[in-house]
Amino acid sequence: MSTVLEIADLKKLARRRVPKMFFDYADSGAWTESTYRANESDFAKIKLRQRVLVDMTDRSLATTMIGQNVTMPVALSPTGLAGMQHADGEILAAQAAQEFGVPFTLSTMSICSIEDVAAATKKPFWFQLYVMKDRDFVRNLIERAKAAGCSALVLTLDLQILGQRHKDLRNGLSAPPKFTPKHIWQMMTRPQWCLGMLATQRRTFRNIAGHAKGVSDLSSLSSWTAEQFDPKLNWDDVEWIKKLWGGPLILKGILDEEDALMAAKTGADAIIVSNHGGRQLDGAPSSISMLPRIVDTVGDKVEIHLDGGIRSGQDVLKAVALGAKGTYIGRPFLYGLGAMGKAGVTKALEIIAREADVTMALCGKRRITDVDASILHKD
Ligand SMILES: Cc1cc2nc3c(=O)[nH]c(=O)nc-3n(C[C@H](O)[C@H](O)[C@H](O)COP(=O)(O)O)c2cc1C
Repeated sequence: MSTVLEIADLKKLARRRVPKMFFDYADSGAWTESTYRANESDFAKIKLRQRVLVDMTDRSLATTMIGQNVTMPVALSPTGLAGMQHADGEILAAQAAQEFGVPFTLSTMSICSIEDVAAATKKPFWFQLYVMKDRDFVRNLIERAKAAGCSALVLTLDLQILGQRHKDLRNGLSAPPKFTPKHIWQMMTRPQWCLGMLATQRRTFRNIAGHAKGVSDLSSLSSWTAEQFDPKLNWDDVEWIKKLWGGPLILKGILDEEDALMAAKTGADAIIVSNHGGRQLDGAPSSISMLPRIVDTVGDKVEIHLDGGIRSGQDVLKAVALGAKGTYIGRPFLYGLGAMGKAGVTKALEIIAREADVTMALCGKRRITDVDASILHKD
């Protein structure tokens, strides 16, 4: 644990502890993965301004995201199948986030259900919605999120159809896992993972199984999921969902100024500048490269968040400096989860918080709420 100093260390550990098909599921982007890579490498191009002899005492990363207090502006992204990186993964990640004081977002495509996570946590979490063709199922999911006390709904807009990730196809990824010799071998070489999975009942999409019409067994679940993402989703549906939910709404997957304007018009509480971690449209620009334009276009109309490629506290500072009120991490917390369960998620958050704090100080700022473009080099 003492040798875990950066997110890359957690990634190395996760690679050793998580069966290949699930590690690859996290560490993959669509097609050539160029957008996945750009999300990370474009952060490195932004340079910070080193300042000296500025009072650096009493620093604070505390701020708000959609009016809710956070100990730092970093939420956990919704990620499908987190419960396959580690047994009961969503519960463990939600507990780690709650103890750290940052939001956890549960995916529609989670292994642990809304009710599982609610029963294991004390504070409200956020719920991410994929809109399915079966609108009764969608209505019911929203009701379940309300009943569980979720304090924001994150509506994902950029997955009406699924981008192709070569690794998943090559690995024959499926949830629950298939039992071909190749898959059994991948699992047997990760004995701790197997023991965890044997000790839990949570091994399938528990938000869906038992809740969607016509889904009685695991094979019907797979075909239902594959068919259900709605390619006709449109802005009127956003209005419908906003009314149905009636609480704080965050629109995820905005990467274009025109879409940002449409999103701001819906009256949503925030938008997330995101390309789904490079998992959908390969060849799209990185999230961080689009942030300044989107801030220029709608920064005075709606709160702006960003995800994609954040691997350090420096990245968080850069996003905040460019106008993001909050950020999200997907893979960094998944690597922590796969590496060491709940302790690994806490470790990922600690690493990012410490890096953000020191970076802020060395840029001559004491409060994250004072961080702006003045901490960046202009050229
Ligand atoms: C393994 C994995 C599963 C994901 N599943 C979902 C999901 O179920 N719903 C969703 O809105 N986004 C999903 N995403 C996208 C993330 O919410 C987020 O946009 C992305 O991971 C941010 O990039 P980062 O991983 O570089 O931090 C997923 C991402 C990963 C890596």
